[in-house]
Order: sequence, then structure tokens, then C-alpha cells
Amino acid sequence: MADKKANSLKNLKSRTKLVHAGRAPSDQYGFVNTPIYRGSTVLFPSLDALMHRRMPFTYGTQGSPTTQSLETAWTDLCGAAGTVIVPTGLAAIAVAFLAAVKAGDHILVSDSVYRPNRNFCDTILKRMGVETTYYEPLIGAGIEALIRPNTSVIFLETPGSQTFEIQDIPAIAAVARAKNICTILDNTWATPLFFQAHAFGIDMSLEAGTKYLSGHSDLLLGLVSANESWYPALQATYDAFAMCPGPEDVFLALRGMRSLELRLHEAQRQGLAMAEWLSTRKEVIQVLHPALPACPGHEIWKRDFRGASGLFSVLLAPCSQNALAAMLDGLELFGMGYSWGGFESLVIPFDCGSYRTATAWAPPGPALRFSIGLEDVEDLKADLEAGFERMRLTP
Ligand SMILES: Cc1ncc(COP(=O)(O)O)c(C=O)c1O
Repeated sequence: MADKKANSLKNLKSRTKLVHAGRAPSDQYGFVNTPIYRGSTVLFPSLDALMHRRMPFTYGTQGSPTTQSLETAWTDLCGAAGTVIVPTGLAAIAVAFLAAVKAGDHILVSDSVYRPNRNFCDTILKRMGVETTYYEPLIGAGIEALIRPNTSVIFLETPGSQTFEIQDIPAIAAVARAKNICTILDNTWATPLFFQAHAFGIDMSLEAGTKYLSGHSDLLLGLVSANESWYPALQATYDAFAMCPGPEDVFLALRGMRSLELRLHEAQRQGLAMAEWLSTRKEVIQVLHPALPACPGHEIWKRDFRGASGLFSVLLAPCSQNALAAMLDGLELFGMGYSWGGFESLVIPFDCGSYRTATAWAPPGPALRFSIGLEDVEDLKADLEAGFERMRLTP
């Protein structure tokens, strides 16, 4: 099976691991990729095997060679003790929280998190008797002042996937560890290639595989990796829900994984080129791109990250709603839609002012988030340039 190779891959570079991890052609009649294993029932050859579950796989919800391929590869890539794979990124957030909280707990969640994450805390966790305090993402070691005797989790997202604050993970993780508090990170923006969460002290790290791992906007998936201390609780919680993804989606994620490093480096190159160009435009007041100095926490990004993906935001000079619509509605290459990390460029306007509680978000004009795809950047610039011209001409 796939893990036969795991030890021999340990010392290889990530790019090599991405190509070789999680597949064993000799187990698949020589075919290069682990195929899609579909199924609920696994047949046991004897009563003894059935009673003692003496088979590598026992039932569809407990995994298959397809899911095991992705789990072992991801665990290796993350430097984790183990990984569970769930149907969406939001399910990954939910299963990680549920592995670590109980009724009566208090949790600390960054004010910058993906909005449906807040909804999970404010509804499901609240109903379970878990109280959430949202904290200023740039708080660093100051988080200690917010900790209560019943604080069980600190949730981080760095950078915040709309507003791009970079969190001081080592400082927060050190405080958490000293107080036996579980740290959970949404690492979707960087992926394990650009940020090694567990090496920086994070207990559980999650990835919306829907974004860069897929890379093709054609699947939903979530992955949670955990260190030795937290993997047993994570696995038990996952088992209790049987929250398993469909095998086709896992197969597509494995396919995406093979080219993840190439695509991510290209996203970095393209994203930076667009961010730098946008920072020269008079319509743009500020570019929130972790690799540019105007981004809050840029120095921390330089210290801790290995790269930047292709998602960033800009703050525009004040303009009318009609002018913004004229710009966005007429774009020919940028799509407007709520995801990112695919091969195609996207843009959305956003406004988190109405729901943030620990930080004020009140830029003077509209804010746009860009996911830069694989098109030629000169074509992308021309598309936006025409958009800015429409904006200028619209009252
Ligand atoms: C930062 C972040 N985390 C998690 C998710 C959730 O992923 P999914 O759409 O697969 O539920 C998203 C989706 O946009 C996201 O942006």
C-alpha cells in the first residue's frame, strides 16, 4: 500500500514527495495512480478475519486505498502524525473544533476567520455550551490576557483570507502550549508548502482542499492534520461522524496534489506581479498582500513563511456603487465568485465591517479580493485597466 514508501520519502524535498507520495504502482497492476475505489461493503475471508477485523480496510466509511493514498501523502507533507479527510473545508473546521471542545469550554477565535467558521461557533458551538471570544488577529503573545481557566482552543487563520493580517503563530502557540490549550490553524492560504504549521507549534492544521489542492474549481474537500498529541482525538471524532468524502473527489485531489508546488509557485509569481501593478494604480489606496510591506504582519510573513499564494485584497479609493458595478460587471477574464485557488482568476467585493467584533473594518472605499489564476498577467492587467476606465466614466 501507499505507506510502504512513507519512510523512504521522509528525507526528500516537498516537490519530490508530491510526485511519489501516496501511490504504490505495484499494488495497482503497475498503473501509476491509485484508482478510485468505490464501495461500502468489504468482504472478509473468514469468521476470524471478520471478528478481529483482520483486513487493511473494513468498511467504506473507514477508508479505502484511495483515501489512504491522500491521507499518507498529506501527513508526510505536513510533518504530522495523521490526517483525516472530510467532504469540505468547512467540515474540516467543524471536525477539528469538535475534537477539541466540550460543553462549558471557552474558545478564542481570530476575528479574521472565514465567515462560516464564525457561524459554526455562534450557532452549533454556542448551542453546545461553548463560549467564543473573537480576538484581534495581530494580538501575538497578548492573547494570554484573554485566556480563562476553561479556555480549550485557540483558532487561527493566517493570513486572514479577506483582510490578510499575518498572525504571530510562534508567540500564540507558545502561550497555548504553556496552558495546555489546543491550537487549530486554517492553513488554506499557504498550504503546507508555504507554511509548516506543526513545526511552528500548531496542534491541528486544516486545509480547504477545495482551493489550491484541487486547483481546478471542480471539487470540494477538507483535510485536517494533527500532531501526536491530537491525532487520536481527531481520528475518534471523525469516526464518530463517518464524515467521509466521495472517492472521486479524493482522486481528483490526489491528481491536483501532483502539480501543487508548480501551481503554487506560479500563483505566487502571478499574484505578486498583479499586486505590484495594482499598488501603482491611483484607484488603489492599499494592497493587502502578505509579501508587500503595506500588509499588516508582513515582517512575520517574511520570518515564518516560505512563499505567498495568489490570493490578496486591495482597498479602493471611494467610488459609487454604480461605478464599482460598472467595473466588475464588465470584466471579461476575471470571474466573480466565492472561491479561490483555481486555475482561473476571480474577484469579489467584500465588507466585513458588519460582523467583526474585535477589530474595526471601515476602509474609506470598497474592498476587492483577487484570486490570480494562470492567465497571462498582461491580459489580466488589461482587463482590470478597462474596468478602472469604466469606473472612472460612471458617476
Ligand atoms: C479560508 C477558508 N477556509 C475554509 C473554507 C471552506 O472551504 P469549503 O468551501 O470547502 O467549505 C474557505 C472557503 O472559501 C476558506 O476561504
